[in-house]
Parts: sequence; structure tokens; C-alpha cells
Amino acid sequence: MSNSTDTSPSPLANDRYLRALQRQSVDVTPVWMMRQAGRYLPEYKATRAQAGDFMSLCRNAELACEVTMQPLRRFDLDAAILFSDILTIPDAMGLGLYFEAGEGPKFSRPLTSMREIQKLGVPDPEGELQYVMNAVRTIRRELNGQVPLIGFSGSPWTLATYMIEGGSSKAFTKIKKMAFAEPEALHLLLDKLADAVIAYLNAQIAAGAQSVMVFDTWGGVLSPRDYNLFSLQYMAKIVDGLTKENDGRKVPVTLFTKNGGMWLESIAATGCDAVGLDWTINIDEARARIGDKVALQGNMDPSMLYASPERIEQEVATILEKYGQGPGHVFNLGHGIHLDVPPENAGVFVDAVHRLSKQYHCEK
Ligand code: CP3
Repeated sequence: MSNSTDTSPSPLANDRYLRALQRQSVDVTPVWMMRQAGRYLPEYKATRAQAGDFMSLCRNAELACEVTMQPLRRFDLDAAILFSDILTIPDAMGLGLYFEAGEGPKFSRPLTSMREIQKLGVPDPEGELQYVMNAVRTIRRELNGQVPLIGFSGSPWTLATYMIEGGSSKAFTKIKKMAFAEPEALHLLLDKLADAVIAYLNAQIAAGAQSVMVFDTWGGVLSPRDYNLFSLQYMAKIVDGLTKENDGRKVPVTLFTKNGGMWLESIAATGCDAVGLDWTINIDEARARIGDKVALQGNMDPSMLYASPERIEQEVATILEKYGQGPGHVFNLGHGIHLDVPPENAGVFVDAVHRLSKQYHCEK
């Protein structure tokens, strides 16, 4: 007989990550690394060469699955993250994403006017973006309940910076010009992007993502008022629109604004489950401010992975001690791992989190 009436969640051998995001007790602090699949791993470079280029790697479900699994084979990580990119949505909106060696992402048709923004459609996640959902389904099958799978998207503001600047930026003058000289145009874009992100993340959840994270890499370049208006407001709309439960389990949501330490209370007030921290804030302060409402993810400086094993372990110990006793902490780097970090150092980091965190999880 089929057990189609059985509504119990699919089994997970390791659910520390999902438990910590809900501030439930764990045996040790869970850990994963932003950008854990990538160029610091020689096996990643080999698979990317096999695919031809980065976007072809993202579009090939089997190879995207392979690179998702690579860091899990090397390190004792508590979560897998979908291998893809935040710029898949603007690409699906027709902006023409390409990567120039050493220069990062570029768009061949960046947005310059209200007219162009009015013409943009919200992409169908099972249409233009189906390759992402296929990757999610393939990875879930391959993971086979080993650890949970994280889905992700960029925040509307962060996506809009690339869509208007045409690529990476330092001063963000084009998008800020639109924000301050033509705010209706930017708000229309951000609102469309929020709708696109909701549909995209809900499709990832339906395809098997067990938690989702929104990367707001560039929210921290705004003033406090403009952060609320142009970034946080749209992330709050996303949190509201997301599927709350799937496969008999809560689907926790993490919001990460790089350089957002000033605004933790307002980020936590969106109703997200966890707040990502970069290394410019002390995690004890963050916990004192919002730790009764949300879990915290972070927050070691990724450059610490250049240091000696002893120094890495010392830094892990300091952050664990600062967070203190009890659950609600997902250990991570404060931003993506650098591409020239020795992989062994990532292993030292992951093992140190597990070994040194036991003492903070003793039931009283
Ligand atoms: O964490 C993971 O392992 C999952 C994969 C992931 C990638 N990009 C793969 C990738 C995730 C979560 C992202 C998110 C992303 N992409 C962000 C938000 C997080 C952050 O780092 O702030 C941003 C801003 C992007 C846009 C983007 N895509 C940039 C700036 C780059 C780097 C360009 C470069 O040459 O360094 C990319 C490309 C990219 N995305 C790579 C990877 C592994 C490198 C591509 C390659 O193989 O050459």
C-alpha cells in the first residue's frame, strides 16, 4: 500500500540547522559557510570546466547538484545550499546576464528608465527558471535526508543594484540617482522584484528547499531611512508572502543584510526566523538586542580562514563564548568564503564549531 496519507515529514538524519533556526535545543551549534561551493575547491573548478562556464553549470541540474555536494564530502557541514546565483531572476527578466573574467557579473541590457521597468514581467519559476527548480529536486534526491537544503534569493534592493548599475558597483550612483530623482520608477521595480522573489522562493520550497535565505548584500549602503524604504520594506513583503510550512515542517527564513548591524530590531520585526550577521557587530550585542525574537547566523570574518589553525579555533571559541549558552545560533562566516582560502582551513573551522560548542548545549 502507498502511504500517501502519511503526513509526517521526510526524515532528516541531521536537523540541527532547522532546529537552531527555530531556537530549539541542539547537541552542538550547527555550521555552514556562505559560498561553500566555489572556486576555493579544486573539484569545483574541474566541474565548472566540464560545464563550460558558470551559468551553464547553474543550468545543468546534475552538475549543479554535484558542486552542491562537494563541500559536504569534505566537511562536516550541517546544511547544503542550492548551487545557483541571485542574478537568475534578472536574467529571466531578460537583462542578459554574463560574466566577464575577473570582473564579476554584468548585464547587457541594464535598466535606465520607467518605461523599461513598466515592460518587465515577473518570471514564471517553473518556466524560465525551471532549471533552478530542477536543481533543487535533484539535490534533494541526492541528499537523501543527510542534511537540510537551503534555497535562496537576492533581496529586491540588491537585485536592483545589479539591474540598474549593469554589474557590480562601489558608489551605486545610478540606482541612488533613480531612488532620489525618480523614486516611483525604483519602487515599481522593487515591488515587481518582491513578487518575483516570492514566487521564486515558494517554488524552491515546493521543489524541496527546507529553509530559505534572502541575501541583501547591498542594503548597508543606504541611510537608515532609505534602508527601510528601499530594502527592508520589500524584504518584509517577501517574508509575508512565503510558504510557512511544507512537507509537515516549518520552513524557516533568514534575512541577511551585510552591514545591517545598526538595524537588527527592524530586521527582526519583519517576522523572519533568523537574522544573518556580518563580522562588524559583536554577536553578544546582537543576541541582547534581538535574541529573544529570532535566531542569529554568523559571524566570523571570512578572512580569518587565512590564519593558522590555532588562530581560527581561537576565533571560533570567542564567538561561541560571546553568543553564550543555549540554542538559536547557526555558525557561519560573516560573508562568502574567499576564493583563495586553503580548503583545509575551512575544515578546521567547521570541526572547531562542533567540538568547542558542546559545552554551550548542556541541558540544565
Ligand atoms: O553559497 C553557495 O555555495 C551557493 C551559491 C551562491 C553563488 N552565488 C554561487 C556563485 C550564492 C548563495 C550566491 C549569491 C550571490 N551571488 C550574491 C549574494 C551573496 C554575496 O556574496 O553577497 C551575490 C551578490 C551574487 C552575485 C555574484 N555572482 C557575484 C558578485 C559573483 C562573483 C563574481 C566573481 O567572479 O567573483 C557571482 C558568481 C558566482 N556565484 C560564483 C559562484 C560560485 C563564481 C563563479 C565562478 O565559478 O567563476
